[in-house]
This record gives sequence, C-alpha cells and structure tokens, in this order.
Amino acid sequence: MIKLAIREEQIKELKNKIKTHKEKPGPLMPSLHDAQKLIGCIPYEIQKMISKELNIPVAKINGVVTFYAQFSLEPKGENIIGVCLGTACYVKGAQAILDKIGSELKIKSNETTDDGKFTLEATRCIGACGLAPVMTVNEEVYGNLNVSKSVEALNKHKEGAIND
Ligand code: FES
Repeated sequence: MIKLAIREEQIKELKNKIKTHKEKPGPLMPSLHDAQKLIGCIPYEIQKMISKELNIPVAKINGVVTFYAQFSLEPKGENIIGVCLGTACYVKGAQAILDKIGSELKIKSNETTDDGKFTLEATRCIGACGLAPVMTVNEEVYGNLNVSKSVEALNKHKEGAIND
C-alpha cells in the first residue's frame, strides 16, 4: 500500500474551497469532489476536517464517501486495473484473471502496488458483457480475455509505466 503524505498547502486549499461551497446550498458533495481531486483520496482525517468545516457529522460523511465509487479512502495508483466480476464475466473465468493479475502485481483486489503504479479493483458489470470476460486499464477496455491475454495487456501497461 502506498503511504499518503498530505501537505499543509493541500489542506489550506481544500479549506478555502470548502469556504466557497459553504456559501451555497449542498456544500458536501462539491467539497468531497475537491478533496478527492486535491488529495487523491478522502481518508478519515480529511473526513473529520470536512465534518468540522461543514458542521456535518463525520459518520454521515463517511457514509457518502464509502457509498460512491468515485471517492476512495486510500490513494489510488497511477493506473487503475478493473477486472469485471459481473455474472457474464464471472462464468467465463474472470476470477482466474483477477487472481493472476493480483499475483503478477503482488497485490490483492482493492490494493495498490508499493510503487504507486497500479491499483487492482474487482468491478461490477461495465456493460460490455458481449466481450466477456472483460478487464479495463484506465480508459482502455480489453475483452474476450483469458489469463494469458490479460497478462499481455498488463505487461503493455507495465512497459508504459516504466517508460513514463
Ligand atoms: S458482466 Fe462483465 S461486462 Fe457485464
């Protein structure tokens, strides 16, 4: 798991943005979006800060953060790999693909590699069942996969990540 170091300036900038959101109705969602964008995730300490600034119970904030997939509690990697575990993909062997990608990266589902390059996620149906089993790497969709094709797709992005 990558360690998160939140800088003073990030907190200051977030507080300024929250102050602006407070002037309008419904300040929670825009404040959370800004926190996610500025810090890359919304850990408990940031939730507490937002709770204090907006005078909203931290339990409510935590509920929102954990409900919406666009918010995360931990920092995510530069590349997000999603292996669909929806029914169509699952019956065509998606679990073996998820396990293989996990073992290649030495992480489990919902974890990020130590170098911060990859996060692995098991996703629900992404609406590409005709291509099952399916895996996404960032915006790219890989379909009709098997274990070895999924490793090829991963390696393509590993090379890209090394050349960055
Ligand atoms: S179940 Fe995987 S894309 Fe629909």
